[in-house]
Order: sequence, then C-alpha cells, then structure tokens
Amino acid sequence: MSIRFEQKQGILTLLTDQTAYQMQIGPLGYLLHTYYGRRCEGSFAYLHLERDCGFSPNPYELSYARSFSMDNMPQEYSGSNAGDFRLASVLAETEDGIRGADLRYVNHEIRRGKYSLQGLPAAFAAAGDEDAVETLSVTLRDAASGLEAELLYGVYEKQNVITRAVRFRNAGQKKVKLRKAASACLDLPFGEWDSISFHGRHAMERMPDRGPVRNGIQTVSSGRGASSHQHNPFVILCEHDATEDHGECYGLMLCYSGNHRIEIERDQTDSVRAVAGIGGDGFCWKLEPGESLDTPELLMCFTAEGLDALSGTYHRFIRRSLCRSPWSGKKRPVLLNSWEAAYMDINEDRILQLARDAKKLGVEMLVLDDGWFGSRNDDHRALGDWTPNLEKLPHGLDGLIRRVNDEGLKFGLWIEPEMVSENSDLYRAHPDWVLAVPGRKPAIGRSQMVLDLSRDEVADWMYETVARLLRENHIEYIKWDMNRSITDVYSALLPADRQGEVSHRYMLGLYRVMDRLVSEFPQVLFEGCAGGGGRFDAGILAYFPQIWCSDNTDAVARLLIQQGTSYGYPASALGAHVSASPNHQTGRSTPFGTRAAVAMAGTFGYELDPAKLSPEEQAEVTQQIGRFHEVEELVREGDYHRLTGAENNRYTAWQFVSEDRNESLFTLVLTEPEGNPRPLHLRLKGLDPERAYRVVWAEYAGCRYREEMKLPAPISGAALMYGGITVPRIYGDYPSVQALFRAV
Ligand code: DGJ
Repeated sequence: MSIRFEQKQGILTLLTDQTAYQMQIGPLGYLLHTYYGRRCEGSFAYLHLERDCGFSPNPYELSYARSFSMDNMPQEYSGSNAGDFRLASVLAETEDGIRGADLRYVNHEIRRGKYSLQGLPAAFAAAGDEDAVETLSVTLRDAASGLEAELLYGVYEKQNVITRAVRFRNAGQKKVKLRKAASACLDLPFGEWDSISFHGRHAMERMPDRGPVRNGIQTVSSGRGASSHQHNPFVILCEHDATEDHGECYGLMLCYSGNHRIEIERDQTDSVRAVAGIGGDGFCWKLEPGESLDTPELLMCFTAEGLDALSGTYHRFIRRSLCRSPWSGKKRPVLLNSWEAAYMDINEDRILQLARDAKKLGVEMLVLDDGWFGSRNDDHRALGDWTPNLEKLPHGLDGLIRRVNDEGLKFGLWIEPEMVSENSDLYRAHPDWVLAVPGRKPAIGRSQMVLDLSRDEVADWMYETVARLLRENHIEYIKWDMNRSITDVYSALLPADRQGEVSHRYMLGLYRVMDRLVSEFPQVLFEGCAGGGGRFDAGILAYFPQIWCSDNTDAVARLLIQQGTSYGYPASALGAHVSASPNHQTGRSTPFGTRAAVAMAGTFGYELDPAKLSPEEQAEVTQQIGRFHEVEELVREGDYHRLTGAENNRYTAWQFVSEDRNESLFTLVLTEPEGNPRPLHLRLKGLDPERAYRVVWAEYAGCRYREEMKLPAPISGAALMYGGITVPRIYGDYPSVQALFRAV
C-alpha cells in the first residue's frame, strides 16, 4: 500500500520507494501539509508548532487560543479570504459576491490505479504497473459557497512521482466563478531553496535560470495561449548547494500546454509556498450548481540525489507513464525535412529529387514541410486550405506520396491546423471562426489568425480535415505546427460571463482533437511543434511522442537549448536535425560531424539539401546514419546524464547509458578552444563500477589537430566514474568527440 491513513491522528501518508508525502486533518478540518521529502516513517505533525503570530488571524472557533493561524501553518491546498495571506490556490466568487474559499476536510478515499481527468492529458498506469499506482482523493468544502475541491493524488510507488490535480464541484445552490483554480500547492516550511526555471524566446528556448528564492513572490507564467518559448511550465526547487549529484530537489511540472502560472512565495517566516496551475490574467470559469471542472495535472518529483536524478526520474516517467503513443517505445525513422532544404520553393520534382538524394544516403522518410497546399507561396496566405496545390504537386498529394514511396522512402507531412490566413478560402467562408474581440481587428502574428477551438464545430472541422488527410493518403508522420501567440481571446458563441473560459476551452478543444486523431491513427508518428519549442510540455507529450525542440538548428546554440530541455524532458521527445552550414538562424559555421553528434541527442534527422553537400559530406551522412542506428535505442531508452553545467563555457558534454549499463555513448563538444589548453577532465556517470568497458568506436569531428584517446582497454566502470577520463587535446572550431563504450 503506497497510501496509508492513520485514523487516530488523522494522518494521510503517500509513500514511494524513495519519498514520503504527508498531510494531516488538523483542527476544525483544516488540511495541513506536514512533510514531503526522503522516505521515512512516522507522523511529522510534531514539526509544525502552533504559535501566536502578530497580524496572523485565528479561526473564529479558536480565536481565544490565538496559537493556531492559517497564515503560518503549512497548508495542503490554500484557500483565500479566510485567514491565510500567502498565495491562494483558489479564488472563488459566488453570484451574490461572496469571495474566497475557506476549505475544510469532508472525506477521503483511497483507490487502486490512477485517476483520469475530464478532457485533459494525464499520466496513466502503464501495463504491468497497475498494482504500483494508487489514487488518493481528498474532498474539501467551503461552507459559504458550497464549492468543493477534490484533491487528487496519483502515487507512483516505483517511479517516485506523485501527480496532483483538483476536481472542483459546485455543490452549492449559487453560481460560482473560479478566477484561480490551481492544480496544487506545496508548502516547504523549512529550508533554503534555489529555484530553477526555464525561460527563453523563439529559437532560444528553455535556458535554465537559477537563483535563490527570495522574500516576496516570483512567478513563472505564460499568458500567450501556449506553454510558450518564454517560460516553460516546469520549475525545480533545490537546496542552495544542490548539484547534479547531490542535494534535495523538488520538480513541479505542469502537464498542460496553455496559459500557466507557477508562483513561489517566501513569506514572513521564511516558509516557501509554490502554487501551480492554469494561468492567464483573464481566466474565469463559471460553475453552475452541479457543474465541475478538472484542473491540469502537476507531475511532482522529489529526490535527495541532485538534479541528474531528478531529470532521470522525469525522463523515465514521461516515457513510461505519460506518452501514450505506441511510437514512444519504438525506433523513429531517420527523416529529411524539406524546410531548410527548400522552404516554400517546392514542387513535385524538387521533392522527389530530395527524396532520391536522401534515399541514397540512408534516410528513411521524406517530410514535406510548409508550402504544399492552397496558394501557399509565402506565409501570408492559405492556412486553412488543406488541399494540395496542383501547380506545385500536379499528381496531388497522393501521387507525390506514391512516388516518394516508390523511391523507397516513407512520407511525412507538415500541417498547422489551428491557424487560418485572412487570405484563405476557409476565412472567406467562416470569418467568425477566428478568435476576435467584437469591434476590434485581431492582432496578427506571422500574418495569421487563430481558429476558435473552444467551439465544437471548429474543433470538429479540424479533426475531420486532418483525419481526411490521413485516411486518403499514406502519410506516416505528421509535423503539427502552431506559429503564433494567441491574442484577442473572445469566442463568438459564448455568453459574456463565460468569456474567461475561452483560453482553457481552446486547450480542451485541441486536446480532444489530438486524442481522437492519435486514437484513430496510432500508426502515424506525430511530432508537435510551435515555431520550434513554443509548446514543449508534458501536455503535448501525452499525445505526441516527440516535439520539434527549436527553430534554431545551429549545433552550438542547440547545446544550450537541448541541455536546458533535458532537465525535464527525455531525449526520445526531443526533435533534432542536422542542418546546413553556415547555419540559417545564426550564420555560424560548424563541423558536419559536430552537427550530427548534437542531433544524435534527440530524434535525429536532416534538414538540408543533400545535393548541396560535397561527395565527402554525403558519404559522411551515410556513416552518421549508420552510427545513429547503432545508438538510437540507447538514446531513446537510456539514462541521460549532463556531464557539464551552465558554469562551463569551454565545452559541453553528456552521456547516455543503457538501462542494463551495458553501453554508453559519450559526447563532448568544445565550444571555446584555449591556447595552451588546460586538461579537459570529466567523470563518467551511471556505469557499472564492477564491470569492464571498452571503447567500441570514437569519432572525432572538426579537429584541425587532435590526439588519440588513451584509455586502458578494458577499463573498469569504477575507473571511468571515479577516476574519470582526460579527453585528448582537440583543436578547431567547435570540434567534437563521440565515443561508444560497451561492457566486455
Ligand atoms: C515553424 C517550424 O518550427 C519550422 O520548422 C517550419 O515548419 C516552419 N514553421 C514552417 O512554416
């Protein structure tokens, strides 16, 4: 049993192999949070001393005792306007103006298996894990409004993950509006913490930002209608001295792709509270009596073993218990995407030529990116008109696909179904289908507007359009793009008092369509994309097993982007391609082999015109693909270790280790070559100390001068991990070394 209830003390404890999480039904039914940390037994209520604290109010019933205040006791799920001045988890308002929520325990239930959420992505119990996952549901109630918050916990005993969500129910007689409906609140009453968040911009996503949690409130949020390039819905709280290999770390990852908000407050007593959930300033959800709303899921993880262990826990969890696609555990085809090869300058001949050239080099799939439909000759038009442009593709999509297949390649297609161009047949037929505020022209992003997916008919049209493409054509891969932030949030069909629901309804509409498509077409490999990594989150990964990581394909920029992404998300989910040099986004030139080594830390493919490569480079592609086939399972299923951190600007190194610790792929890219260089020493990770390893191959790229790797053969895992390796001297512009170790 991973969930225990001790009736006498009113203590509920959630246990995983390495963690314990505890709450107590306290005085007057307040649900107090008593502990989350390393696994240990017993009640932790003793830690939280009641005390009289100035300007911290007491519940009416205890007012003469003065020692119990909602304002300084750790709460499991904070209310509002009822005595706790720290971050609220819920802001509720009844139709007659009652504001706030004073939430008290009603009952709880422990169930086998994992709860699911209405219309939202959520983790599940994978086949074989059914007995190792349990659900706790605790219902709290605000007497004044009748609002109930059912706190849901999924306890993954073996995986050290606890998921959380809240089901709000209006069990009263009056309408209730929720202006804030967080998925979880986590009080850490003791300790000194750093926060690590992942900020960025288009083409430079998920840059780690670490600093101490200071007094006051800090917020990581997106109101862009997507989880965003700017602020990923993932935050780590860790001890000040936590490193990759030691220290307590908490992970808070929202399984949601829309507006989000993760707030962290350090209060008057230095206690820290994190509250995470749906964001967006305009959020307001109306619950009629009897109605309910599920919040997005939060994936929570604790480890005392540092950031490497935290990342590994998320990687394994996402692959096993979140990604439903059968592709999650399967080898993905090595693809060539037409975007950076040809942009919109495409036609059947050009695509077929790309396919032929790619096939010769060992590529397995040709992906036709933007520009194939309607009058799409530039990005000012035609989104929404998802029929092939017959001037470019005279034999239609079907004819092209057959020809590509005849060349021995699979075929994949780019779409951007959530969007519409003003200059399109779809917009001319349905101008009211876009999000737009009456009396105001909507803001334009990349010359396009956003379809109102909060409307069932629009979502149904979107499903039908994509389903028809998949039914009528032999498409084996879809790149699902989304190229602008969402503005002018107003839906033509909803009444005034439901307009605050539009952004979340948009997400529900999108998830419904994705769910239908991946269920109906499980054989199709879907890749998410939003101008690169603008919607790189656990919500998308519940449906699509991989996401195009960034529109920046520069290998050196990718070192930062992919490493930032790796804190939360597995390499199996990370779309990465080899592109041309000089790079189209940065103008930087990098060695071909280094570009391949970097792309091999993801799903691997190409995004260039093979005909523009020299014969030597073409031969190199074949070798790169050969190497990738050798390591792809290791990359997809193995444990990923960062060997360098943000503090190192000389080189970036990482390592994949197979689950059985039989194989490991080591990669290092030198970003800042030095004159008279200092030795470059690293300790490998994750190997079996008792076993001996041998270097199967070592591949150097971009070296103007290099020395050979000198390692005893065989060499013990202990030596590689504790003594480490001294990387031989390599000189050049962004040279790299990759080495495959195998146990003998
Ligand atoms: C943005 C994507 O991230 C690119 O890879 C490409 O598909 C373009 N959109 C096409 O418009």
